[in-house]
Amino acid sequence: MIIALDGPAASGKSTVAKAVANRLGIRHLDTGAMYRAVTWLALHEGVAVDDAAGLAALAAAHPVEFDYADGASIATAVRIAGHDVTRAVRLPEVDASVSAVSAVAAVREALVARQRVLGGERDTVAEGRDIGTVVFPSAEVKVYLTASAEERARRRKIDLAAQGHAVEQDEVQERLERRDHFDSTREVSPLEVADDATLLDTTGLSVEEVVDGIVALVEAAR
Ligand code: DC
Repeated sequence: MIIALDGPAASGKSTVAKAVANRLGIRHLDTGAMYRAVTWLALHEGVAVDDAAGLAALAAAHPVEFDYADGASIATAVRIAGHDVTRAVRLPEVDASVSAVSAVAAVREALVARQRVLGGERDTVAEGRDIGTVVFPSAEVKVYLTASAEERARRRKIDLAAQGHAVEQDEVQERLERRDHFDSTREVSPLEVADDATLLDTTGLSVEEVVDGIVALVEAAR
């Protein structure tokens, strides 16, 4: 079974996807981390983020790997080209360049192929932007998570503060909105709601309430 969880930056996808995976004992797949890993590698190797052919070559040559302990729901590490990039993929410089890298069609082709392999291995809750529309169009359950821009900026500011980065909320919101605009208007696989997805606005809802809602959809689909 595949549960597709899409939505804009900081909509709560990761927290919710991990909680759903733990609750159901299935695998969590963070596809954003895969675009981030390729972006990190490009920065590390000095491949420019506007060099589509160079980025495509990197993505094709270096499959992103996740470490899952036996039967575990949540990966303990993300790796690319022999580097453990688990923490590095969250760096602000990766944030700043990942939209450009993920807009390259050939990068998406390589990563979508890899996502289908990983999703085929076990029951999976996959989070991203195009899971229900492109990667797994026949997913049994599709949810599009959203929240107001203010709420998303508030959440992201708390996450960043926990990682030691103090940033003004206005600035966080502006960056999120810029990334969402780019992700929603790009030509290849833009962020959009699948026709058959359930739209869930998480503004004012607790994680528990959102997870309960998704688990109920899964039970109904079984
Ligand atoms: O979910 P995230 O913030 O870690 O995603 C990082 C970027 O990767 C995001 O700006 C858009 C891109 N992305 C994508 O294009 N398709 C996906 N399935 C997942 C992420």
